[in-house]
Amino acid sequence: MDVSSDIEKFNRWSGTYEESWFQYLYFDRIHNGVLRFVTVKSAPGDIVDVGCGTGRLLRKIRERWPQAQLTGIDPAEGMVQKARHLMPDAAFMVSSAESIPLPDASADLVFSTTSFHHWSDQAQGIREIRRVLRPGGQFFLSDIAPLPFFLRCVNRGHGHLRTRHEVRTMFEQAGLEVQAQRRLMLGHIVVTSGIRRE
Ligand SMILES: C[S@@+](CC[C@H](N)C(=O)[O-])C[C@H]1O[C@@H](n2cnc3c(N)ncnc32)[C@H](O)[C@@H]1O
Repeated sequence: MDVSSDIEKFNRWSGTYEESWFQYLYFDRIHNGVLRFVTVKSAPGDIVDVGCGTGRLLRKIRERWPQAQLTGIDPAEGMVQKARHLMPDAAFMVSSAESIPLPDASADLVFSTTSFHHWSDQAQGIREIRRVLRPGGQFFLSDIAPLPFFLRCVNRGHGHLRTRHEVRTMFEQAGLEVQAQRRLMLGHIVVTSGIRRE
């Protein structure tokens, strides 16, 4: 997958992304599904969405934790412009998972939905997320699960899809303890949650 053409595709899509029927049938179900898995002892102060697109998940997060500082990061400028327009009370930055422009230990929760398979260096992206999490902070990664090998042609164009085992290993290698892995939408999406212990 050519990284610049992939981001260009999202730039082109950004103008109509929010209006797409796909949002209601697909992305909203993933967002609602992952938010159902989140249990926290106290209200999180700082929440980051990596590969935030137009900020749709962050708008749902705002309803749940109205006091939190919300930050979205996405390399597609068109997506970020749209997100800023729709959610002026959050911070949005044009950047990638591999280089997150946030200080060490500055986030309580990090989310990423259906973006991971686009990252050119997934291990580096997870290391960056571990860096910006505070000790005790959690990362919820939701992404498309690879199909069985005899159906892999259907997944062509979906970048680097990773198995549950591969994601678990990447979390552990980055210093995140895996808390749970859950399936959404009949196993099409896997949500992995990890915690930074120290
Ligand atoms: C399918 S969209 C999902 C957007 C949003 N998370 C949602 O659930 O609606 C994938 C997003 O990942 C972004 N993306 C691509 N490469 C990325 C990278 N290396 N780091 C972070 N985000 C990336 C794209 O620009 C795009 O906005």
